Amino acid sequence: MLRVAVALFSLVATVLVLVVPALAAIQVPLRTVTANPNINVKNEEWDLDKLPDPNATDHLVFETVHSLLQHWPNTRMRNGHSIVPGRIPKGTLLYHGTARNELPPGPEWVATDPEHSYLFCRSLPGYVQQGCWHLTLITTRSLKIVYFDGSSAAKLPYGTMDTQDLLVWSRSGRHDPFNDRQRIQDLCKWGGNFDVDGFVRMEMDFEVMLCDFTSGVSVVSFSNIVGRRNTLMTPADLNSFEVLHAGSWHNHFPGETRVQLDLAGLISFYDTQLAPSLIDIRADQERWDHRVQNISSEDVLAAKSRLESTLLRPEGLSSGIDWRTLIQVIIDRYAGRLELTRYLLNLSVTDPGEILDLAKKTQIQLRIMLTPYLLFSATPTDKSDLNWTIPIFKLCATTHTYSMDSDLDTMTVSEKLLLQALRGTTQEICRVVTRMWAAGVCAGIDPSLNTKDTPDIAEVTHLWGTWTEDLDRLMAWLDWNVWIRCNPGCGPEEMCYLPTWPAGFPRPRRGPSPPNTDRPQPERLTGFDFRTMVTERLAEEMRPIVKPGPDDWIRPQPKCIRRIDPYEF
Ligand SMILES: *[C@@H]1O[C@H](CO)[C@@H](O)[C@H](O)[C@H]1NC(C)=O
Ligand SMILES: *[C@@H]1O[C@H](CO)[C@@H](O)[C@H](O)[C@H]1NC(C)=O
Ligand SMILES: *[C@@H]1O[C@H](CO)[C@@H](O)[C@H](O)[C@H]1NC(C)=O
Ligand SMILES: *[C@@H]1O[C@H](CO)[C@@H](O)[C@H](O)[C@H]1NC(C)=O
Repeated sequence: MLRVAVALFSLVATVLVLVVPALAAIQVPLRTVTANPNINVKNEEWDLDKLPDPNATDHLVFETVHSLLQHWPNTRMRNGHSIVPGRIPKGTLLYHGTARNELPPGPEWVATDPEHSYLFCRSLPGYVQQGCWHLTLITTRSLKIVYFDGSSAAKLPYGTMDTQDLLVWSRSGRHDPFNDRQRIQDLCKWGGNFDVDGFVRMEMDFEVMLCDFTSGVSVVSFSNIVGRRNTLMTPADLNSFEVLHAGSWHNHFPGETRVQLDLAGLISFYDTQLAPSLIDIRADQERWDHRVQNISSEDVLAAKSRLESTLLRPEGLSSGIDWRTLIQVIIDRYAGRLELTRYLLNLSVTDPGEILDLAKKTQIQLRIMLTPYLLFSATPTDKSDLNWTIPIFKLCATTHTYSMDSDLDTMTVSEKLLLQALRGTTQEICRVVTRMWAAGVCAGIDPSLNTKDTPDIAEVTHLWGTWTEDLDRLMAWLDWNVWIRCNPGCGPEEMCYLPTWPAGFPRPRRGPSPPNTDRPQPERLTGFDFRTMVTERLAEEMRPIVKPGPDDWIRPQPKCIRRIDPYEF
């Protein structure tokens, strides 16, 4: 038997050598490795030329979930699309700045970093000599929270508050962004039905709208400290810089870890099954402009009832898959390599020798990404099509979610959405990388698998163009925030920064709120509300400290700002 097999082996090898003499290294298709038979993708979908469906949102779900609780991406893409239940663990400090040493009798705001609460530590007008009051709390049990992603505490009329307003008022865009008192009261009232202790949002840094200062928290200290000097209308100062600085500690993965999310309960408005009415609205829009404002009322009801049933379900009912890590693994494997490949393709060379050398280096990067999937059995045929690469493409695209179909019955609807997002995203990465690599093989520049003896410079130059086009399209589609950096990097006196509300933002149009026919007009604050007063004053103070570019606050671009005097954002 063995001898027959060996004889067959050499026969096949000989035939192949005769048929494809140009192959640098002969690979014999004796071992067949079948990719995951469970994979739920039809064979015709393994088409290297098939672009992603323009209505599909797999990449958007993937990137928003990857960005949860990270300051950088949620400053760049301010309009949140996710609502996620979670917890703040026991033993976490929370901070609150105020004018009087009285615990708030009702819902109020606390910061996760004291640099943020300190901005609210102010004397009452007319009592400037008496310092201000800074409260430090510690959680005495795990707090149940609901997180709104995006810059969800930025008081802007362009969509940052849409998801919370939909949740609590069933519509958005009809309320003064600064009417946060009504918002917190109504959110806490709704959350009370589900034992929710608070709501996590983000602006210059993360904050919690804490519903009850006597439940689940105890006082560490309530100190009369030295307040900020009166900075009305002064330029950028150390305190406004330091809150941005504290926010930047949570810029990238793992983000703000004092909040722990339950991804199995995630609601995403990029879920096309949950919110089909948004598909048409997003068509032809850039991602910056996506907002959920004009969602249908049926879709709002569906999202709200899904969130409510999630909050009522016993915890821990999920597949047990660590989705956050899985997404991070994909980012780690590809982000830097795609970026390096793009860099190589962007180097300007004209000499044929240099072009060939760079093309070979690029081909190596493509090969590196595919290494675990380069099946011994997959070899170029002498036909012009690329069908021989399909097993590589398939293995690359399916490995990370292999066998997860058998977990489907333990997955929540949110987890199924995450699975789909992972599959759709890896499939597109693998499609493009396989296609680019195979084109390099065809052009004869792969280090160990080629269809030609000597590459043709005209062909390699052409390859360069198609490579660039493919990679640009892929990277624009993925639009990973890890690629957005200050370039060149910042010096030791500087920090990389994205325009952050309220610094440099235009003053919102104020005046009476538009008529609201659905519910009684939310009461505009009657009497004195310290927090609202300070928030409005702060926004006024910080607004003029930057002179942004014309579009900067809508499409934020990174830049270096100073960490020491003279401050300049
Ligand atoms: C995308 O969605 C729109 C609206 O639902 C639909 O008209 C269009 O045919 C869809 N496009 C594709 C490629 O499915
Ligand atoms: C959304 O609704 C608002 C108010 O009804 C309207 O002014 C706006 O044009 C709508 N936007 C889109 C994208 O449909
Ligand atoms: C390509 O290089 C130019 C010039 O160095 C640079 O301005 C541009 O940002 C680069 N593009 C990419 C996508 O790296
Ligand atoms: C390559 O694959 C496509 C799609 O599966 C198929 O239509 C075509 O016939 C294949 N070509 C060859 C030469 O097998």
